[in-house]
Amino acid sequence: MTGQISESKIAEVRERSDIVELISQYVSLKRSGANHMGLCPFHSEKSPSFSVNAARQFFHCFGCGVGGDIFSFLMKIEGLAFPDAVRRLAAQHGIDLEERVLSPEDEARQQQRERFYRVNEIAADYFHQQLMEHPAGEEARRYMKTRGYGRKAAAEYQIGFALDSWDGLRLHLEAQGQTVADAQALGLIRPRKQGDGHYDLFRKRLMFPVYDLSGRVVAFAGRVLDDSKPKYINSPESPIYHKGRVLFGLYQARQAMRQSGEVLVVEGYFDQLALYRSGFPQVVATCGTALTTEHARLLKRYVQRVILLFDQDAAGKQATFKAMTVLQEEGVPAAVIELPAGDDPDSFLQSQGVEAFRRRLEKARSVMDLFIDDTLSEAGEGIEQKARAAERIVAQITGLSSELEQDLYLKELARRSGIDLERLKQLNQKVAAQGAQLQQKRTRIFAGQSDGYEYPLPEPPPDEPGREYTVAAEKKREQTPVWSRAEELLLCLFLKNYISRKEIVTAGGLELFYHSDAVKYGQLLLDHATDEGIDHKTLYEKLDPDEARILMGLSALDQGQFGESVNDFFTGCLQALQREQKKRRRDELHEKIRRCEQAGDSEQMEKLLKEFKNLK
Ligand code: UTP
Ligand code: MN
Repeated sequence: MTGQISESKIAEVRERSDIVELISQYVSLKRSGANHMGLCPFHSEKSPSFSVNAARQFFHCFGCGVGGDIFSFLMKIEGLAFPDAVRRLAAQHGIDLEERVLSPEDEARQQQRERFYRVNEIAADYFHQQLMEHPAGEEARRYMKTRGYGRKAAAEYQIGFALDSWDGLRLHLEAQGQTVADAQALGLIRPRKQGDGHYDLFRKRLMFPVYDLSGRVVAFAGRVLDDSKPKYINSPESPIYHKGRVLFGLYQARQAMRQSGEVLVVEGYFDQLALYRSGFPQVVATCGTALTTEHARLLKRYVQRVILLFDQDAAGKQATFKAMTVLQEEGVPAAVIELPAGDDPDSFLQSQGVEAFRRRLEKARSVMDLFIDDTLSEAGEGIEQKARAAERIVAQITGLSSELEQDLYLKELARRSGIDLERLKQLNQKVAAQGAQLQQKRTRIFAGQSDGYEYPLPEPPPDEPGREYTVAAEKKREQTPVWSRAEELLLCLFLKNYISRKEIVTAGGLELFYHSDAVKYGQLLLDHATDEGIDHKTLYEKLDPDEARILMGLSALDQGQFGESVNDFFTGCLQALQREQKKRRRDELHEKIRRCEQAGDSEQMEKLLKEFKNLK
């Protein structure tokens, strides 16, 4: 197909592609400092002189002198003309170059997305206007001032204010020719339960627009102006918003990230703003969610190092170690900055100032270092506890891609724990040999990712003005048990006696569960299940406060949404669990195949490949 590809499309393709990912399809690359090195595909050589720079997105061979960007690589290696190289990459990333004729459905979907962006844009303008000009925005302006922000900052981030009104935004959108259906799909307005009518989700809140990489508004976060709860409400997921793939501030920060080669990852919107304008523009925030693999891949395109800066409490620690595992799996070195207990980056900057923060940043240490310290000191001096802690640490160390680093950390662990280094090395080798199993173990410790299955959200309670509605996911993170969404829902169904012991047992009993927390609570419920259902009284007598809190959390998942469709939920859970199990088996096989490949064991590899294909 012919036709000019627009500059902006080319830029979009460049933005969405990753040169390391592309070149890895042709060359086996190894990270070496800021670069990736491998054998040059354009001339023959025995030692690697071909280097790829992820931050600057170019490649260069020190042997034969070729070099260029992602497009020139593809042109050279596949013998393509420039437009064809662009097309090839665009297709890989699902970018529409607007050359082909769209099917009517695609056309409709495309138009719908455009409308969604438009609705968000109008809403963002509207909120911004209220903050800057509206008399009723005075309270919000005052609040901004107490946090140290004036008009300039508000304008730069297009921060806004949603008035204390049930229909302000809806009326404005309608006046601008937008439909209620689109606004509802974006979660900006919600239907009233009784009969007709809708209400604005965001009321009397300071509004932060969340941008995608093209600078379009895909979601909002709204903060209360006082101490009421919930502090933040976030847009729900929509066809244009997946919180696991979006980072607040990335659009503004990516230039600085490329330049500095690093990124600070924080939890709060205000933390992002505070660092950004205090001279640390290489900063992004997660939008009320844990760091995902997709986030890690996104960050990898810009930086060589991620510096985690989560809240200084138990939940923040847990989030930090979970992020460490995610980043480690993506081969991204992770460091951590510690702040005084109770501080977040915003409050720290306020009270201690920029220079104090800079010193902390300089002293950022690797997350593994913190993990070793933390795990050991938590274990105390008891011999068994210490041994178990050492095992956990070694398991984590074995996951590092660099053997040199593994060695160094093992030495460090030996020094700090007093355990003989040779012993630790043996353990390390044993764990490495169990590679695939280890993978599981580590996920067991830290995972609990979403399974991608779309569960219907609970309905909001009947509308009474002034009453706030939150879904569980919007609540502040607590020390949470580790399990998948399907496991969690299944436990909830069981706990609330929607499904019987018999049904659980028939479906597989404890075998259904994978994550150790799920197994534990599954067991607990089974122990207290009779033919008449769960005996809540004897169950609750048995629990310690933590367990009770977790069971209450499970119980609160039920907001009446199961209704008539309990069986659908039940089946949905079982299917999701099966998918998860399959995925784990695939990952395990993948790892085994990789090792067979390295060892040159082609016979075994054939076998594994066959099983792998069958699984698909
Ligand atoms: P925090 O409670 O630590 O708030 O939540 P914060 O960022 O320090 O907020 P300020 O400084 O008081 O304004 C950290 C992050 O967790 C998410 C938000 O992303 C928030 O920035 N969160 C928190 C929610 O999504 N919903 C909530 O109700 C609370
Ligand atoms: Mn804060």
